[in-house]
Amino acid sequence: MEAKIITLPKFEDPRGNLSFIEEENHIPFKIERTYWIYDVPGGQVRGGHVFKEQREFIVALSGSFDVIVDDGRHKKSFSLNRSYYGLYIPCGLWRQMENFSTNALAVVLSSTKFEESDYIRDYKTFLKYREEYEKQRL
Ligand code: TYD
Repeated sequence: MEAKIITLPKFEDPRGNLSFIEEENHIPFKIERTYWIYDVPGGQVRGGHVFKEQREFIVALSGSFDVIVDDGRHKKSFSLNRSYYGLYIPCGLWRQMENFSTNALAVVLSSTKFEESDYIRDYKTFLKYREEYEKQRL
């Protein structure tokens, strides 16, 4: 399955708008963990790695940033800049977050608890992993 933008419910109201996320309803997994990235200095890049098991949903609750998703063959860039949609990323894809605006707030809903052994942080190791993955699918 590919990374995709999921639009969330939005209740527009003169008092201010409201959006929400229900696990296994708006996003296709149970939420085991929530973390957020903030106070990112201009020009910094976060999250250049792969999760072997973790699936995630990323929302720009404030400001904007780009998420680059890479399957080892093709890269796709998603601009997140609204709080009523987010990017679903299945496991096994390299993903990087960059081009953070001032005051950007990225919230990440994760399908797993934190586990360092779930990360692939080396790009060449990822390409080998991907090759094996694609062989198994043939
Ligand atoms: P990391 O996921 O490597 O950050 P990024 O991918 O955005 O560059 O996490 C940075 C550090 O924070 C790393 O030492 C692990 C720790 N960490 C946790 O302890 N728990 C968590 O839920 C997350 C996401 C990170």
